[in-house]
Amino acid sequence: MERLPLFEAYPELDLRLPRVPLATLPTPVQPLARLGQATGIPGLYVKRDDLTSPLYGGNKVRKLEFLLAEARRCGARTVITAGAVGSNHCLATAIHGRRLELRVVLLLVDQPVAQYVRTNLLLDHFHRARLCKTSLAAFPLRLAWHYLRGTDWRRLRPAFYIPFGGSSSLGCLGYVNAAFELKKQVEEGLLPEPDYTFVAAGSLGTASGLVLGLRLAGLKTRVVGVRVTPVALCSPSRWARMVNRTSASLTGRATTVPPVRVTPEELVLLGDFSGQGYARFTEEGMQAVHLMREHEGIRLEGTYTGKALAGTLDYIHKNQLERQTHLFWNTYSSADLSSVAQTIDYRDLPRAFHRYFEQPCQALDSD
Ligand SMILES: Cc1ncc(COP(=O)(O)O)c(C=O)c1O
Repeated sequence: MERLPLFEAYPELDLRLPRVPLATLPTPVQPLARLGQATGIPGLYVKRDDLTSPLYGGNKVRKLEFLLAEARRCGARTVITAGAVGSNHCLATAIHGRRLELRVVLLLVDQPVAQYVRTNLLLDHFHRARLCKTSLAAFPLRLAWHYLRGTDWRRLRPAFYIPFGGSSSLGCLGYVNAAFELKKQVEEGLLPEPDYTFVAAGSLGTASGLVLGLRLAGLKTRVVGVRVTPVALCSPSRWARMVNRTSASLTGRATTVPPVRVTPEELVLLGDFSGQGYARFTEEGMQAVHLMREHEGIRLEGTYTGKALAGTLDYIHKNQLERQTHLFWNTYSSADLSSVAQTIDYRDLPRAFHRYFEQPCQALDSD
């Protein structure tokens, strides 16, 4: 097994940070030549984090390598996490948690109906996750209840909680490492150092890890986040706090890691692409999904990566950056698991989830 680039840079961390290898790394970087030609941006590249795992990829696998390792270190048998009903993070936790023989409990809040929501719910169930519908108001109580229930009191093995999106300081480390991985790929000549790196910003763990990692790795590329969740969850101040907290957790573990501090003013977060709200597809987001599929054969979706690509292209054109080098970080799993989902009858799921199969999908959903 190859050593993580983050551990190569700071060998002390290798001893202090438990990690379970779940991801196929490094993920490829490749030019988006046809999309670049169609949009007048010749220096457009993609980081293929859709390929982090053949079981289920996307950005969450990098975070789970650290989070599930910590759960195991704490002796947990049950992992609890939360998200919207179609959450990719929850599905990734169900699949990779099961792989490690952990029981997975998912606390799920409402979101607009889409085909991918159905597929993810069916797959959560297929992978034996326990699905619990909750409102945001009832969430703390539900979490406390499942925490008490998931703790093995006799052997003193507490349940392990992973916050929404896996975006704790520990989860962010997956993307600190990803930045070091990118640096290696630049050094190997696989792409020029990007002037800008674009990424979907939901709970901000991915963007935070990248900002911190790129600073530590000494790359100049500027991270541009494209906000897809409400401002209360995704703002420059939250982003800066997450970067600084993750930095503090790293320096606390290894004296060789220099501290990094960022301010909200330094961070670029595009707010105009979230449309009517989280998981409500937008015309320009779906156009971006079609562009990527048509020119590059890469599958994006309407909640995160379609909106992110729409923001990417708009930002480049509006700021006349067409001659510079740009990296689009693809965070959506490309594993097509729909045939597995088709083996499940939605009526086997708890009743609270049936309406996601009985109500029509939102208008722009073409999947
Ligand atoms: C496909 C996809 N892209 C991007 C994100 C956003 O990542 P983060 O929550 O780290 O901001 C998510 C989060 O769920 C996701 O599922």
